[in-house]
Amino acid sequence: MKKAFYVTTPIYYVNDHPHVGHAYTTIIGDYLARFHRLDGYDTHFLTGTDEHGEKIYQAAQAASCGTQEFVDQISTRFKDAWAALDISNVDFIRTTEERHKTIVIDVLRRIHDAGDIYYDEYEGIYCVGCERFLTEKELVNGKCRDHHTVPESRKEGNYFFQMERYRAWLVGHIQQHADFIRPAGYRHEVLSMLSESIGDLSISRPKDRVPWGISLPWDPDHVTYVWTDALINYISAIGFDGSSKYKRFWPVAQHLIGKDILKAHAVFWPTMLKAAGIPLYQHLNVGGFLMGHDGRKMSKSLGNVVDPFELADKYGSDAVRYYLLKDTVYGQDGSVGEGGLIERYNADLANDLGNLLSRVRALVLRHLGGRFDGPSGPLRHSDHEVAKAGIELSGKVRTQVAKLRLHAALEEVLQYVRQLNRYFNDEEPWTLAKDTQKHGRLGDVLLNVAEGLVISSVLLEPALPKKAAKIRRDLGVGCYRFDEIESWGNIKAGTTMPDETDLLFPKIEDKLTGQTRPEKRAKEEKTAVSDPEISIEEFNRMQLKVAEVIEAEKVVNADKLVTLKLNLGGEERTVVAGIAQYYEAKDLVGRKVVIVANLKSAKLRGILSQGMVLAANDDEGNLSLVAVDPQVPPGTVVR
Ligand code: ME8
Ligand code: MG
Repeated sequence: MKKAFYVTTPIYYVNDHPHVGHAYTTIIGDYLARFHRLDGYDTHFLTGTDEHGEKIYQAAQAASCGTQEFVDQISTRFKDAWAALDISNVDFIRTTEERHKTIVIDVLRRIHDAGDIYYDEYEGIYCVGCERFLTEKELVNGKCRDHHTVPESRKEGNYFFQMERYRAWLVGHIQQHADFIRPAGYRHEVLSMLSESIGDLSISRPKDRVPWGISLPWDPDHVTYVWTDALINYISAIGFDGSSKYKRFWPVAQHLIGKDILKAHAVFWPTMLKAAGIPLYQHLNVGGFLMGHDGRKMSKSLGNVVDPFELADKYGSDAVRYYLLKDTVYGQDGSVGEGGLIERYNADLANDLGNLLSRVRALVLRHLGGRFDGPSGPLRHSDHEVAKAGIELSGKVRTQVAKLRLHAALEEVLQYVRQLNRYFNDEEPWTLAKDTQKHGRLGDVLLNVAEGLVISSVLLEPALPKKAAKIRRDLGVGCYRFDEIESWGNIKAGTTMPDETDLLFPKIEDKLTGQTRPEKRAKEEKTAVSDPEISIEEFNRMQLKVAEVIEAEKVVNADKLVTLKLNLGGEERTVVAGIAQYYEAKDLVGRKVVIVANLKSAKLRGILSQGMVLAANDDEGNLSLVAVDPQVPPGTVVR
């Protein structure tokens, strides 16, 4: 039987319109769902909307709208938003649906029957934004740290769930299952929360204050607390007890959440499940916040939000998906903006990927009649290298995805695409094309690049569902699963490409100047440095020296930077260089480079850089290190 995979997003509150934070978590869910489908898993992917509770009730009142009408409208907006971003959810649960209410009542009855519920007068401080009672310890300057509002004092009769009773058991479970909550930082946070009393959980609201909710099965004057109701969506959507979907998917369930709702998912939910006699979910995956460029959590009131739907209209949904996945590290806070999207798009998608596809297509159409005719000879050494790396690529990507390092999974593919670019440039197919005697070899080189692009497209498909399919369409091939790209030779002899196609990723021009970003930067640099003349004395103040690279290591979370340890002839230096997109760290070791040795030291990403490596850099963003002959000893002065 096929392996099963079940991933959920939070169900979003309908008091707010879908925004980039919701999109971020949902896109991660979609990446994982598509990835596992391509990897042969029977996959269930759930999202939905959270429609009960005080906050929603108040928002509907403020909008002078019937509550049901209000939640219907906004829930539809979430559905439309996910369609616009190509989200492939299998189901969309709404907590106002009957199928959900029935199961909430069932679960509440089980907890009640277990003797874990009591009634009490309660006094505490409540944050309507969070929809939960806060402890004094959670406040910052007397305010909720997420909503920046002073919580309200509440005193009323509530039903309580004896959550504290399960604390020791939960600690044990988390300790025995190292990957129950991940990344590990959040696991520690939860263990520390559980190191002291967690109290009992109020699970009801009096109907005379909050009429909007699911009535308690044993007391119709109270409705279910919104979190108790909402968490149950993860099992109500798959039918709970007796349903085949529940049997298949619940044992492998993984939740995706943001760190704001960690306590509800890591403490309320497992203890509720335990009390109801229901097995726990398998993993809780916790994401960080997206921050605006001002370094603060994106929020409407701060005006630092980017609108993913506007960006998707402008640049395509694939570009937005790719950018959010590639430029953030799952679990950590990330900062995103339109400028970053444009740079990422131009570098990875337009230059590395799109350009290579265009170049291959142009040569195949011009010289080979648009057909791939199968290899004319055995693989040469250089061919073998791209083939081997291609065959091994899905394994590397899988390893990263299993660790939820989605940015790194995409980078693995992009590194391979860069390797294909180097192969293409080294083999010079345009030169082979000039000599008809060499057209056999020309066909082989182009076929190899196309094979590599097919593999890359399949592994990029979870991020780029539309464009991945287009790459294969443009090459004249169909769909593949991951297990079909663990071999070379997927393009059958006689495969014919369509003559005409649109550019895969047209470069994004800067609206104001009509230039693309790298061109613009190069131009700005040129006007800045090429005009004024300098004297020989000024030039002599600059110390240029030959250095040998002893160690090279990519800077974590900085795509462009490599840390180099350099030998300057009796002296060692650390220099951070922005060349990671052009050179593999391991290929740099042993190379001789030229550096500006008396440049003022500067800290880059916390690393002290003592000098600058020289490189040739053209208007198209190509880069080549300045080199000297290998016998020149390190430390030699360049003048
Ligand atoms: O909490 N950065 O719903 P919600 C990253 N209904 N992710 C963000 C974000 C940001 N700036 N802002 C929001 C609820 N999110 C409950 C959930 S589940 C049973 C009930 C994402 O509409 C992130 O995933 O407030 C966060 O956890 C979620 O949206 C909160 O959505
Ligand atoms: Mg929220």
